[in-house]
Parts: sequence; structure tokens; C-alpha cells
Amino acid sequence: MLLATAIFIAPLCLRAQAQTSSIHFDKQTKVFRIDAADVSYIFGVNENKQVQTLYWGKRLSAADTFAAAKSAPGASSSDPSIDTTRQEFVAWGGGLYVEPDLKVTFPDGNRDLVLQYVSHTITGNHLTLQLKDISREVYVELQYEIDPETGILRRSAEVQNKTSLPLTIEQIASGTWTLPRAQDYRLRYLTGRWAGEWNLREQAIQPGKITLESRRGSTGAQNNPWFAIDRNSSNDQDQGDVWFGALGWSGSWQINIEQDQIQQVRVTGGPNSFDFGYRLAAGESLQSPYFYAGYSHDGIGGASRLLHRFELASILPGASHPKLRPVLYNSWEATGFHVDEAGQEALAEKAASIGVERFVVDDGWFGQRAGDHAGLGDWYVNPVKFPHGLKPLIDKVHSLGMDFGLWIEPEMVNPDSDLYRKHPDWILNFTGRPRSQGRHQFVLNLARPDVREYVFNFIDKLLEENDIAFLKWDYNRNWSEPGWPAVSPDEQKKVYVTYTQNLYSILGELRRKHPKVEIESCSGGGSRVDLGIMRYTDEVWPSDNTDAFDRLKIQDGFTYAYTPGVMMSWVTDTPTQINHRMLSLDYRFLSSMQGSLGIGANLNDWKPEDFATAKKMVSRYKQIREVVQRGSLYRLISPGDGSEQSVTETVSQDQTQAVAFAFLHSSEMLYPFPRIYLRGLKPDALYRIETLDGKLAGDSPAVASGAFWMQQGVDVDLKGDFQAAAFTLKIVSQ
Ligand code: DGJ
Repeated sequence: MLLATAIFIAPLCLRAQAQTSSIHFDKQTKVFRIDAADVSYIFGVNENKQVQTLYWGKRLSAADTFAAAKSAPGASSSDPSIDTTRQEFVAWGGGLYVEPDLKVTFPDGNRDLVLQYVSHTITGNHLTLQLKDISREVYVELQYEIDPETGILRRSAEVQNKTSLPLTIEQIASGTWTLPRAQDYRLRYLTGRWAGEWNLREQAIQPGKITLESRRGSTGAQNNPWFAIDRNSSNDQDQGDVWFGALGWSGSWQINIEQDQIQQVRVTGGPNSFDFGYRLAAGESLQSPYFYAGYSHDGIGGASRLLHRFELASILPGASHPKLRPVLYNSWEATGFHVDEAGQEALAEKAASIGVERFVVDDGWFGQRAGDHAGLGDWYVNPVKFPHGLKPLIDKVHSLGMDFGLWIEPEMVNPDSDLYRKHPDWILNFTGRPRSQGRHQFVLNLARPDVREYVFNFIDKLLEENDIAFLKWDYNRNWSEPGWPAVSPDEQKKVYVTYTQNLYSILGELRRKHPKVEIESCSGGGSRVDLGIMRYTDEVWPSDNTDAFDRLKIQDGFTYAYTPGVMMSWVTDTPTQINHRMLSLDYRFLSSMQGSLGIGANLNDWKPEDFATAKKMVSRYKQIREVVQRGSLYRLISPGDGSEQSVTETVSQDQTQAVAFAFLHSSEMLYPFPRIYLRGLKPDALYRIETLDGKLAGDSPAVASGAFWMQQGVDVDLKGDFQAAAFTLKIVSQ
């Protein structure tokens, strides 16, 4: 029988079926049970006082009970019980060979840590467990928070040093997620590089360990801190069991997916343990980043829809109702560093004429910034380019009915800058060693209090002195020589944590002081997108690759982890900068309209017909953007693996509207474009179909039931190369 010590009940606004969420503790069996949305998560305290995972998956009946946790027998003398028992959080001690959640070194050379359950508290949707080492005054608080609407759990661990001496944390994870026992798991993850971010990869999980990571100082594009694991390898996007998670950390990170000696699959995640060492003085504590994870019974599509809803409702600034993204213009691809008052004003007039709502000045407006060799760090307005400061341009932008945004790259400095000449010691470096440059710049050591203050102050002043609605916060290189010579050698490796904490604290303080300012996270394309930075930024830049065809794949990969509501997507010029591909303006618009629409083309080169097309598309986008940015995304045909087509559909949360985008790479052998079978509609309701661009097949009815559109489907008339179509469905009767 379950004895509840505390219960949290919340209505689920976005779910059709009324589910409740709750956290129970059964005093007799020492079993904790967390239920929310479609998920149950259950663990218990076993006879060794280890916290042991019992179940994670589809929601169970309230009548289902669990016996007290019992530690697993070892598989052999080589694999003792500590390795085979499914622990929620395990420190390195005893004979632990699987990935630990925590590894420490004490000043006396002891490196053994064995944690045992001490107590717990349940407050609303939070559960905190206190663990303690068997002999030393080292405590770990395991924190769980359940999201009632999606069943996504947020976990983190806080290490508290209550001994009288310092200790060094060499590895810290937020916890271990252990999947139900099975041998047919498949891992999906994201890889990439500059101009080629967000590739979805998959592989079978087999005995051994897969590490997804960044050692670059920031999130990176090589891997993104997201994973999804499914069973039975169903290729239907919307069917099957999927366990997924994402780490909220923008520094070096790692996620380990390990199949242990008895074929149990464990996932751990936290800051990267490579070159890590956090000295925790007596009385100090360190909290790990948040690691979020969930379960979906509706396949990988269902998993991403849960993440999207969670991000919008719980992560982004302004959650649970973050603002819709305005249509913006940015001239980076058009004018590069050559920004000046007259040129930007001329572009602003043209941008306003097509319905743009935000005008953004990119790189080049400050210091002695003629190219990427100089100026970073000197955040004064360039007096030649903007002789009267930014005000005349900002006023002009406002008079045209748009708000104003500005590019900054606060964490960097060029060697050719006043700032570096004055403070050569402010960058990450090892004394007496070479200082590697990336894009002719160094990384400022934001962990230093003086650098933190400088960065905060210059941005604060910029925002105080100018009517700025939006900052594009860029970050264009990875770390090298991550030394911090100003502190003692045993404190230096704290840079990996303190840098990121200071980045968050600057962003948080700026947001508090300037609540109307929105921020985009950009990092030489999409190298800093994660659930940590997204708590402080309203949108992200997925890639410097703006080729509208490549973007289909980039956007497809991106949306496995992150909502299209933050996915900035510009319409740029053709031939495209990256591939020199020719694409029609319609195609480029429809590709970008699947996310947050921006325009990055050189409007000075546009013909009257381009302005007419753009005006029409921007106006249509405004009609559908709430559905695109807030709705439920269905990937009907994924553009990966050489597919000739791509189709996405987004359905509004209330299922009254939908919008679908279809893209053809090239027609072959007289084959028609595949019929589009929609998903997520109300089967019995009637919906009216409307084309955005006249490419619906002629025999489509104007009005039909949701069942019709889902079962009989829709044909679009796409033939040729690089063709695109879009249509909407609106409910006419329920
Ligand atoms: C990299 C960004 O991704 C681009 O959009 C642009 O802002 C440049 N930096 C500017 O240097």
C-alpha cells in the first residue's frame, strides 16, 4: 500500500485526458513513485541504503504496487553488486566500474566515496533526497522536479562539503537514468560542424559506452547535449517507446550511454570530466546542471513534441507564454562588416516595405571593426560609420514601425583592440605558452570577476543609452589553453564551471534590469544551443548555412531537440553563399517559414517582383506563425538520408488549424510527389484546405473531415527541381 507523505495535483491544460501528477513515498517499502502526464518514474531505497531505480516508462495504474528495492546480486566476482544494482546516483567507491555520477579526491589521498540515503522532503512537484558518505561529512542532495504537463523530469545533484578540509570534485553528473532491461535499444543523437549542424545519427546500443560530448568550453556543434533512445527500432515517427533527455549546460559537457556487463542501459550526464577539477572548500557546495529527461509512447515525434511544449512552457524566458518571434531583417550576408548609417537606413526602408518587424545591425558597427581582425572588445560606436551614434538609425527604424536589434560578441577580444592592449591577462591562457587564435580572436576569461564586470557593464550601458529591443549574442570560437593564471593552480580548473555560471548570471542580470530586451544565442552558427542557454535567450541561430535546401535537413535535425518557436531562419540570396545553389524566392521563403522567419538577403539587389513575393509571404507567415511557433510538429517525410522530399506539418494546440510545407529536390522517372497523409487532426471535425501558393492538386475537395485528410491525404502538384508548396487547414465545424 502506498502511504503518501506529500501529494502534488495539477490539471493538465494542454492534454485532452485529465491526468494528475503526484509524488508519493511509501514508508513501508521505501518506494518513491512519481507520476505525471503519461509517465511513471519509480525508485526505492534498498537494504544497503542505495537509491535504486525500479521503473521508468509509460504511466502505470495507481493500483500497481512495487515491492521494496533489493540490490542486485553481482554478476560474478568481477562485477559486484554495486555495478549491477541500478542506482539513481552512484559515487566512485568500492569496486565501481560503470560510469560514476560523482568522483572526488580528499586531501589525504582518499578517493573512496560510498553514498547512502539519509532522508527526503517532498514539496509540491519537487522531491529532494539527501545522501551521505558512509563515514565522511560529504552530502549529496538529489533534486527531482516533475513537469505535470509533459512528465519531463528535471534532475540535479548538489555536493555539499561539510568536512573541515577542501576536496576536489573530478567528475559530477546530475544523475543516472536507467532504462528498462532490453537488448534492442537504438540511440539517436545529433552531430555537426560549422555550416553543417544538426545531423541526426543513430546506432544500436551494444555492450560498451558511447560518449556524446564537448571539450570545447561551450556546447559545440560536434554533438548536441540531447539523446533519444527507442526500442524495436520502429521507423514510424509517431509510434513506439522513446526515452529522451537534454542537458541544460552551455560549458563543456558529456552524456554517457552505457550498456553494462548485464545489458542494462544507463545514461549519465553533466559537465565534461576531461580536464575537470572543482575544488570545494570546507562548507561549500556545488550543484550540477539540470538534466531533463522524459518518455514518450508516441515515438520520436511524440518525444520532440513533448520537448517543444516543455521548452515553451518551462524553459524559455517568459515561459509559459514566451512571445512570438517577430519577422526580422539582418544584413550580415548582404553587407558583411560594411555597415553604416546611410546604408542601414536604406535597407531599413526596404525591409519595412515588406512587413519586417525588427531591424538588426550585425557585426561591424563598433570599435575599429573593418573585418574580423580587429575591434572585438572595444564596444564604442564606430565614429566613421555612425558619426552621430546609433540614435539616428534607431529613430529611423522606429519611425518605420520596426524595433531595433544589435549584434554583440561580448566574450571575445581581438589582439588588435584597445581592450587587449590594456588587459592581455584577461584571456584564457597558460603563462608563457602560445595563445592560439580562432577567427583572429581570443576568449575572454569570463570566470574572472573583473571580466564579468566589464562585460556586464558595457552591455548594460549600451542598453541604457540606446533603445534596443534585441541583442544577437554571438560567440565565434572554441576554447584553447584554458588556463586561469590569476588564481592558485588548484583553483584553475574551476574555469569550466565558473565561466558558464558567470555567463548565465550576466544574462540573468541583464534580463532583470532590461526586461523588454530579447536575446538570441548565436555561436558561429548553431554551436551554443542547449536547455541552459535557452533559459536566458528567446531564440537561437541554428546555422550559418542559410541555403534553403540544406536548411531542410538542418531544421529537421534541430527540431528533434528544440522547438521551431526559437529556430531563427533567414531568407537569403541566391546563388546561396554556401553551395552556390539557385533556388526560387518562393522556395526560400517556404523553407524559412517552418521556423522563426527572418530576411537576410541584399534588398538593394531585389527587383520589384521580389518585393511583391516577399510582401505576400511575410503577410502569410504572420497568419500562420502562431501555429508554426507554438503547434505540434509532425515530420511526415524527413529530408535525411538522400530523401527526394521533405514534408512537415504543424497542428495548433487546439487542433483547429494546421499548416503543411512540402519540398521536392528533383522529379524522377515520372513519379508523382508522394501523397501527404496528415496527422494530429480531429477525425470528426471538418477542415477547409487552402493553398499558400497554388500548388494543390486540382481534385482536392475544399472541405473534408480530419479523418479524410489523414486517411485519404492531400496531393500537391510538385514537379521539377527544388520545388516547394504549402497549405493550411482550418476547422469549419467541430
Ligand atoms: C557568426 C554568425 O553566425 C553570423 O550570423 C554573423 O553574425 C557573424 N558571426 C558576424 O561576425
